[in-house]
Amino acid sequence: MKAVELNGFEGLSSLQVVDVEQPTPGANEVLLEVKAAGLNFAEIEMTKGKYPAGKKLPFVMGFEAAGVVVDAGAQAKNVKVGDRVTAIVSSGGYAEYATADAGFAIPIPDGVSFAEATTIPIHGVAAYALLKLAAKPQPNESLLIQAAGGGVGLYLVQLAKILGVKKVIALASSTEKTDLVTSLGVDVAINYSHANWADQVREATDGKGVDVVLEAASGDVGAESFKLAAPFGRIVMFGAKNIHDTISSAQIRQLVYQNQSLVGFNIPTQRAEQIADCIPDLLTWIAQGKLKLFANSSFALADVKAAFEALSSRRTIGKVVLIP
Ligand SMILES: NC(=O)c1ccc[n+]([C@@H]2O[C@H](COP(=O)([O-])OP(=O)(O)OC[C@H]3O[C@@H](n4cnc5c(N)ncnc54)[C@H](OP(=O)(O)O)[C@@H]3O)[C@@H](O)[C@H]2O)c1
Repeated sequence: MKAVELNGFEGLSSLQVVDVEQPTPGANEVLLEVKAAGLNFAEIEMTKGKYPAGKKLPFVMGFEAAGVVVDAGAQAKNVKVGDRVTAIVSSGGYAEYATADAGFAIPIPDGVSFAEATTIPIHGVAAYALLKLAAKPQPNESLLIQAAGGGVGLYLVQLAKILGVKKVIALASSTEKTDLVTSLGVDVAINYSHANWADQVREATDGKGVDVVLEAASGDVGAESFKLAAPFGRIVMFGAKNIHDTISSAQIRQLVYQNQSLVGFNIPTQRAEQIADCIPDLLTWIAQGKLKLFANSSFALADVKAAFEALSSRRTIGKVVLIP
């Protein structure tokens, strides 16, 4: 079968379309004929050796895929051949076929395309689990979301409003993205490519600062976002770039004197039940039309480098997918 392998850590030049053997499902696994595979920001970092790959080179890339079940192991429960599912995969999603633990296979709701479905297992689950387990915003609080037009960002803005957060402040780098998140119900949308964006955030909170800062940007935006936290606020770090950050003594002083908390978040793979807990609510809100899915950028498997360039260019909105 055709697949995209990573064969080094030199960036996009290390991505190669190759012929590899089709994977075989284990006893608890299903085999998917992949119809769409989703890109994740962390994978840009992975191609440069800046995000743990967890596998030996060369390997087939891709954390997630949506497709049709074409085979199932003897002990695979609740899934049968012919089902449309989306899942975190075990064998690599950028391929014509991929295996996934049957326990991670999420049924694709009616009316949801394979491309849209790729947003659920990582972007959807990460956003919802981050809010429920780490950020825990209260209805009367304000919440700051960076890259709000991105894959996780579009889930965060919608889920925050579904959970009743009073003031959702969304940051994005273009008018197209700020207009979109405004149409999704955010209270304040700010273009953070403008130099005074942090002042605009302060104004939006009447100078009090933000109760919950969701920080994935790192760099200058990360440092400014950190400063925007209100007394007793929480700063939740969850970005692929954050894993290389250091915390300064000025930031520690801020945490101490402002009674703030710094919280880390990653999809809780060590607690599979917490991932599973997120799925029913997400599927209900999708079925009710409260949660819209965005996957407008599709590329053929052979055009994987163009897909990564599009995601890196900051022009894409929502999920970028590969179609085998
Ligand atoms: N901890 C977890 O479990 C978990 C899971 C999934 C994702 N994440 C994190 O969530 C964040 C979003 O991930 P995603 O997969 O949804 O990606 P994404 O937001 O769709 O990534 C693309 C967007 O990121 C923004 N961006 C900011 N700096 C960028 C840069 N240097 N290069 C490219 N884009 C940049 C751009 O939006 P603007 O132009 O509007 O800034 C761009 O459109 C990432 O930091 C990722 O590591 C964490």
